[in-house]
Amino acid sequence: MQDVVKVGIVGCGRAGRKYAAAGLLAHPQAEIVGLTSRTEASARQLRQDLSLTAEVFPDYPTMLESDGLTAVALCTPPPCHFEQAKLALAAGKHVIIEKPATTSIQEAEELIALASQHGRQVLVAQNMRFAPSITTARNWLAYGMIGDVHAVSGIFEHGGPGKDWFFDPAQAGVGGSFYDLGVHLIDTVRFLLGPSVWQLTSADLNHDPRGIDTVGEVSYQTPPGVTIALSTSWLARTMIGRISIQGNRGNIQVVFRPIPNQQLLHTPEGASNEAMQNITSFTSQAFANPYYYFIETILGRISGDPMGISLANNLPTIQAVMAAYRR
Ligand SMILES: NC(=O)c1ccc[n+]([C@@H]2O[C@H](COP(=O)([O-])OP(=O)(O)OC[C@H]3O[C@@H](n4cnc5c(N)ncnc54)[C@H](OP(=O)(O)O)[C@@H]3O)[C@@H](O)[C@H]2O)c1
Repeated sequence: MQDVVKVGIVGCGRAGRKYAAAGLLAHPQAEIVGLTSRTEASARQLRQDLSLTAEVFPDYPTMLESDGLTAVALCTPPPCHFEQAKLALAAGKHVIIEKPATTSIQEAEELIALASQHGRQVLVAQNMRFAPSITTARNWLAYGMIGDVHAVSGIFEHGGPGKDWFFDPAQAGVGGSFYDLGVHLIDTVRFLLGPSVWQLTSADLNHDPRGIDTVGEVSYQTPPGVTIALSTSWLARTMIGRISIQGNRGNIQVVFRPIPNQQLLHTPEGASNEAMQNITSFTSQAFANPYYYFIETILGRISGDPMGISLANNLPTIQAVMAAYRR
């Protein structure tokens, strides 16, 4: 078994810094040995800011050839993910990809097949699954505290990403706010409810003149009779992330943004059974945990993907997102 997992980060922007580097630095057996980005300047800046010893590579293929590299973290815009993951798998590397993992269902299916062919892990950094408010709500649902679930609504909105590429359809890949934020909501609701087939019932994606949906309202139905209504926006004045789950015995509301995370549980027994829990231990580190989990998976200390973030387990999330864009 390996003692140290040597990882290269591709894309030294926000996710590369805040999520990948943070999660990898937290793991005692992970070593960030390589950094590469579209420009060397970004990679050098990250190296300097975090006092890393990693080598800065002029391009991704050169980094893939470096000695001892075990894995890569793809923190680039979504249209880059497919080719970068294919190259990594062909070179025998494990891969973790930022969300949204791919720009089509076909890309995801091809990468799943390649991962299996090469015997390598491909995980998707769906960090909301690791947020304490979400895991607590998931436990409450598993304990049957609100009975049978019949409706879920979710909202995730903020003032829009700070980078121009998110607003350019050619660089963004599939879409705007629903592709970017809806993928979090879909994946989190899937994590909360467990496996089921989602059928799209409506998709209202409000495209601005640039051709990007700055606002999205999308609904699904699952065969057990659960109605799911999700709403995203990049036009909000303040950030809010909330999921509300209605059962025949009560309801759970999870507020995951702004932090600290919070859940409210209402049951028919009334106020005496009302529970409220503030997760004070929550830090932004929780959002880096897919990277920690990635290292544990490579080391063989986690098996069977209990958090459900392998690309194969992420496929229904990708299918639900693509359905909204009729792809
Ligand atoms: N999980 C979350 O909550 C979360 C939050 C934020 C972002 N993300 C995801 O992370 C990914 C990146 O988003 P971001 O916000 O980090 O964007 P960002 O700040 O713009 O960073 C993207 C980085 O990718 C680099 N890049 C672009 N094209 C490249 C290429 N062809 N080869 C190598 N590097 C390339 C850019 O390099 P230069 O700087 O050198 O130009 C930039 O540093 C997206 O999939 C996004 O959805 C996830």
